[in-house]
Amino acid sequence: MQQYIDKAVEQFRDLITEQLARQNRMEKDNFVKDFKNAEKIVIGVCGGDGIGPIISDAAQKVLEYMLADEIEKGRVEMRIIDGLTIENRLACGKAIPDDVLAELKACDVILKGPTTTPKGGTMESANVAMRRELDLYANVRPVSVPELGIDWIFYRENTEGEYVLGSRGVEIPGKLAMDFKVTTTCGTKRIARAAFEYAKQNGKNNVAIVTKANIMKKTDGKFSELCHEVAADYPDITAEDWYIDIMTANLINENNRSKFQVFVLPNLYGDIITDEAAQIQGGVGTAGSANIGDRYAMFEAIHGSAPRMIERGDGAYANPSSMLKAAEMLLRHIGFADRADKLAAAMKVCLETEKKLVITGRKTGASCIDFAKYVMETLEAL
Ligand code: IPM
Ligand code: MG
Repeated sequence: MQQYIDKAVEQFRDLITEQLARQNRMEKDNFVKDFKNAEKIVIGVCGGDGIGPIISDAAQKVLEYMLADEIEKGRVEMRIIDGLTIENRLACGKAIPDDVLAELKACDVILKGPTTTPKGGTMESANVAMRRELDLYANVRPVSVPELGIDWIFYRENTEGEYVLGSRGVEIPGKLAMDFKVTTTCGTKRIARAAFEYAKQNGKNNVAIVTKANIMKKTDGKFSELCHEVAADYPDITAEDWYIDIMTANLINENNRSKFQVFVLPNLYGDIITDEAAQIQGGVGTAGSANIGDRYAMFEAIHGSAPRMIERGDGAYANPSSMLKAAEMLLRHIGFADRADKLAAAMKVCLETEKKLVITGRKTGASCIDFAKYVMETLEAL
């Protein structure tokens, strides 16, 4: 038993040293990519697994259509990145194979299809690895249901919390297991800053800081405290503390849910509650997600690779809406807000008002590629 304890203590020392170094790197790094004035923007497209290549291909086509003039001028380049498949990742024994990572780092923004994450074992999720490697600290997930008065945006911390050491816990076989949650000063301040800045720029006056600081006293306690410190720079915005459990109830409480506007929260709570919020909007298939850092950004669906759809032979009928929402956020991020608005307007026509084609996820509905064509025809007509 003692040998396990010694090994765990040694590992814990290494983890603290490593995480402290990460905090110190964040403290020093002040580079921020300026897309508005960039001479060239490279968009990498990673298909992923399962339905990933199908829905990202649809989103890529729509993006190419919307950026045709910029691509023609050479200011925007779309670059296909192969190799982020579960087969290749398992063969290399890496969440992101080295050559794929190098290709990703040579891009500015990435459009990424869902990737399969093996349960258990030690293979880390490609998603989590990419968020860490590219330091994509803000996971931004908007959810809107106008007829219910819902207009939410979630700022989920995306590089630390429960995730950063999620594959590196310790275990005493047959006895116990421990995982670690990490909250750093810079890691928290930067996500808080992003949330409050968004609120300020978009006329919102309320930010909900969602934690479980009554139980996770050190990490969530620090998260809440630092969010309030950042909030002090935004006197017109009310910063409210909420616990994650009651917040999950609030989201389905028709009497008070529409008062919430912006949420800022640690990684795991953000993961869970954004699926709940997306379900209120119509399902996880309807929500896109932006993973934003100061240098890189990655845009994706919030759902998984749906292997069951592939097994059923229904892959071609997958719903590309989430990836199209991701593409909309990508356009906005790289300085094409007008085009992003146009895509959002076309999506509204296709999904809500006109509905000439309807996706059901099965052969009973429209195919993914036909739906993408429908979106492009609608764009043409707008
Ligand atoms: C998400 C997903 C990922 C996460 C998985 C695929 C690792 O659920 O983007 O919300 O847990 O963050
Ligand atoms: Mg999730």
